[in-house]
Amino acid sequence: MKKKTVRAGIVGAGFAATFHFECLKKVHSTNVEIAGVFATDAEQAAIFAKERGIRAYDSLEELIDKADVIHVCTPPVVHEPIAIAALEQDKFAIVEKPLTGYFGDGSEDFNGDSFPKADALDHALASIERMLEAEKKSKGQILYAENWVYAPSIQKERQIIEKTGAQILWMHGEEAHSGSHAYTYAFWKFSGGGVMIGKGCHPLTAALYLKRVEGTARNGKPICAKAVSARTHALTRLENFEDKGHIRCDYHDIDDFSLMHIVFEDGTIADIFASDIILGGTHNWLEVAANNHRTICNINPNTAMKTYNPVDAYFADIYVVEKTGTKQGWSNPSPDEDWFTGYPQETEAFYRTIAYGDPLESNSSLAADAISTIYSAYVSAEKAGAEVPIRSEW
Ligand SMILES: NC(=O)c1ccc[n+]([C@@H]2O[C@H](COP(=O)([O-])OP(=O)(O)OC[C@H]3O[C@@H](n4cnc5c(N)ncnc54)[C@H](O)[C@@H]3O)[C@@H](O)[C@H]2O)c1
Repeated sequence: MKKKTVRAGIVGAGFAATFHFECLKKVHSTNVEIAGVFATDAEQAAIFAKERGIRAYDSLEELIDKADVIHVCTPPVVHEPIAIAALEQDKFAIVEKPLTGYFGDGSEDFNGDSFPKADALDHALASIERMLEAEKKSKGQILYAENWVYAPSIQKERQIIEKTGAQILWMHGEEAHSGSHAYTYAFWKFSGGGVMIGKGCHPLTAALYLKRVEGTARNGKPICAKAVSARTHALTRLENFEDKGHIRCDYHDIDDFSLMHIVFEDGTIADIFASDIILGGTHNWLEVAANNHRTICNINPNTAMKTYNPVDAYFADIYVVEKTGTKQGWSNPSPDEDWFTGYPQETEAFYRTIAYGDPLESNSSLAADAISTIYSAYVSAEKAGAEVPIRSEW
C-alpha cells in the first residue's frame, strides 16, 4: 500500500514540542511533512525552527491552513481555543495532557487555594462540551496525547486483560518526581490545578483506559468511574517545610501531593497518587490486581539496565533517566526512555488514525472522563475527602 502524506503543525516550542518533533521522525506508517511551528514566544519559536530546519509561522491560523494535524504543545490554559480553531478548519488536533480544565476567572491575582471547586468542575465540564461539540461538527478529530495509554507495559496489560477475560479488582498507581520545570506550572490560572491534574492525569487515564478495555472485552461495554474521594496537600508550602535544595518549592497556589480513590460503576476501585516531593528520579507505575493475575507496569524507572558509577563526573555527558538527582552509585539508565514512556508509539498510532482511519485508543471521551474525574476529585478534596459522583456520559 502506498503511504499517505500527513502535514504536521506544531504549536508551542518548549519541552513537549521538542519530544513531539523527535517522535515525528519515528513515524513509519505515514510520510510526515512538518509544515512548521507557531508559538506566542516568537523568539523561542524562531530558535526551535532554525535548529530543526523548519518554518516558524507568525500566526496560528496560517499554520493550521498549511497543516492536516496540529500538535497542541502549549500550557493547558490554551488547549481548548487552539484545538477548536483546528477542528473548525476540519483539521485534526493532537492535544497534550490535560485536555482542558478551569483556569480561573481571568483576574491577574486569581488564587487557586481559595475559590469554590464546584465552579472549577462546572467550567471544566463546559469546556469539555465545547471541545466535543467542535469535534462532532468537524471532519477532524481530537487525539488525546496520553502517552501512558501507549506505553508498552500498559499495552501488554491490555492484551492480558483482553485475552484472559480478567476482572480488575484494584489498581494503584503513581506519577511523581521532585517538581515540574515549567514556570507556568506553579499557577492554577495557567495549569488548571496542581499535581493532581498535572501528574495524576497520567496514571488515572491509564486506569480508566484499562477498565474500559476490561468492560469492552467481557461485556461489550466500557466500565466507567462512578465516584471519587480525594485529598490534596501543599507540603512544600507548609510553614515548617525545610528546603534542602532538592525539591522545587516555589508553587504559588497549587497542590503538590494528591490521592484519588476511585470507585467504578461495577464497584471495583483504583487509588492514584501524584506528587512533586519524590527524590530519586521520576516514579511512574501502575499496579493491577485482577481476579486471575497481578501486573506491575513500571513505566519509569524500570530495570532494563542497571549501572554502577563510582564518580558522578564520569557520567557528565550521559543521560541516565528523567529527573535523577545524581548519577553516582547504582542507577537504572533507560536505554530508550521515550519508548518505555509510549511517546513514539502514541505518535505512530495517531498518524495511522489520521491517514488510514485506524481506531483511536486515546480519544476525546477518555480524555473527558479523566478531566471530569479530576475536577470531581478537587471538589472532594475541598470537603476533606467526601465522596463526589463523576459524570461519564458524553
Ligand atoms: N505527556 C507528557 O509527558 C508531557 C510532558 C511535559 C509537558 N506536557 C504537556 O505539554 C504542554 C506544554 O508543556 P511544556 O512543558 O512544553 O511547556 P513549555 O512552557 O516548555 O512550552 C510551552 C510553549 O507554548 C507556547 N505558548 C503559550 N501560549 C501559547 C499560545 N496561546 N499559542 C501558541 N503558543 C503558546 C510558549 O511560547 C512555549 O513555546 C502542557 O499541556 C503539558 O502538560 C506533557
